[in-house]
Amino acid sequence: MAAVAKDKFTLGLELPTDPRWVNIAEKNIEDILVDHAYCEQKAASSCISLIIQYPEKEKLVDMLTPVVAEEWGHFERVVEELRKRGYALGKQRKDAYVEALNKVIKKGGSREQQLVEKLLMNALIEARSAERFKLLWKNIPDQSLSVFYYELMVSEAGHYKNFLSLAKEYMPEAYVEARWRELLEAEAAIMRTLDVRGDRMH
Ligand SMILES: [Fe+2]
Ligand SMILES: [Fe+2]
Repeated sequence: MAAVAKDKFTLGLELPTDPRWVNIAEKNIEDILVDHAYCEQKAASSCISLIIQYPEKEKLVDMLTPVVAEEWGHFERVVEELRKRGYALGKQRKDAYVEALNKVIKKGGSREQQLVEKLLMNALIEARSAERFKLLWKNIPDQSLSVFYYELMVSEAGHYKNFLSLAKEYMPEAYVEARWRELLEAEAAIMRTLDVRGDRMH
């Protein structure tokens, strides 16, 4: 794909979110909050799984342990925002974005290669989430939610950098960079095929 001018909060993503998304999302705050709560839960769960699968990787354990607490803190705060508005958490919804990403992640290779696949998938989700939080921060009329989304944008952008730098601990930088570019292309292709839905974070 031809290089296009990207602002710094697209975090290297190849395809900016369809501008219609935030307009529909702001009219579906209950659905967005419920879906978002589960994104935070999955982020925490994913870090816990990585720690359990790779307990010998000290840097990974040290970097991801506080992220588990942070993501769980985000989950708590999203539930609070739901309750404040008289909404319940509700059931987890189908996550077509993560399911599609899962399919482009290579399942074979060495233990380190598999780890890098998982770290890069997490980095992609964090980058896309940060990009969407930026849209919510800038466009949502509800001031308290807008401030909340700003904080989340900053936090998830930090996690994105953590995952990318962790990947470079376990495989050579050139390998990680090349795989990262492939996955950015794949993520953009997924974004093009997904419907623009105002009841999903992704
Ligand atoms: Fe989070
Ligand atoms: Fe995160």
